[in-house]
Amino acid sequence: MKVIITENYQEMSEKASKILIDVVKNNPNAILGLATGSSPIGTYQNMIKDHKENGTSYKAVRTVNLDEYVGLTADHDQSYAYFMRTNLFDSIDIDLQNTNLPCGSASDLQKECDRYNALLENMQQDVQVLGLGSNGHIGFNEPGTPFSSVTHLVDLTENTIKDNSRLFSSIDEVPRQALSMGIKNIMQAKSIIMVVSGKNKAQAVKGMVQGEITPDLPASVLQLHPNVTVVCDKDAASLL
Ligand code: F6R
Repeated sequence: MKVIITENYQEMSEKASKILIDVVKNNPNAILGLATGSSPIGTYQNMIKDHKENGTSYKAVRTVNLDEYVGLTADHDQSYAYFMRTNLFDSIDIDLQNTNLPCGSASDLQKECDRYNALLENMQQDVQVLGLGSNGHIGFNEPGTPFSSVTHLVDLTENTIKDNSRLFSSIDEVPRQALSMGIKNIMQAKSIIMVVSGKNKAQAVKGMVQGEITPDLPASVLQLHPNVTVVCDKDAASLL
């Protein structure tokens, strides 16, 4: 696992975006695994800037996102589908038909998980972007999730509901469930890039990089992957 420590969020975002942009430049048909949340927003902003200034094209790029809240339709402003459009897709030349997220408003959620797993079997990510939960989750694979897991319905932990409530007008509005790629789906990526910032992630970063490999800290599984780059700011790296 390669760990790059940066001065701040901005430098973290620059470094991470450069890696992603290089993947797309080297392979215009690349498959990008994408994440939502606060961590990758700056990375996506740099990709947009590069697209506008240097013309890096996403016309033939395909994407698969990690997760989606259950119960929110794609036009709900807290859905991850909406997040991806407003924070990236609407500002680059990607074909929305080439973008994929689990559908959190599907009537049969198990069927939707099966659909997404079948899709992922044919879409190995050239690079998978990850953030890190303060409890060590990746995607919405909460502590205790088996490493063999594939896309599944998740009951979010109180910790995650609390962390994510900052983006909703009240904690009661935060969905209690999500559909998430499993750990096995994440580990199938050819390469993984994690962006992580802030003191509240420092304990999870330490466990991920230096701790025991255990489902109790899902991100520790990344120690088993041959090509992982963690780009973290110095606050997130403060316990290493
Ligand atoms: C988002 C996701 C989550 C977040 C994590 C960190 O698609 O799967 O694992 O990456 O909860 O969230 P932020 O970046 O908001 O701190």
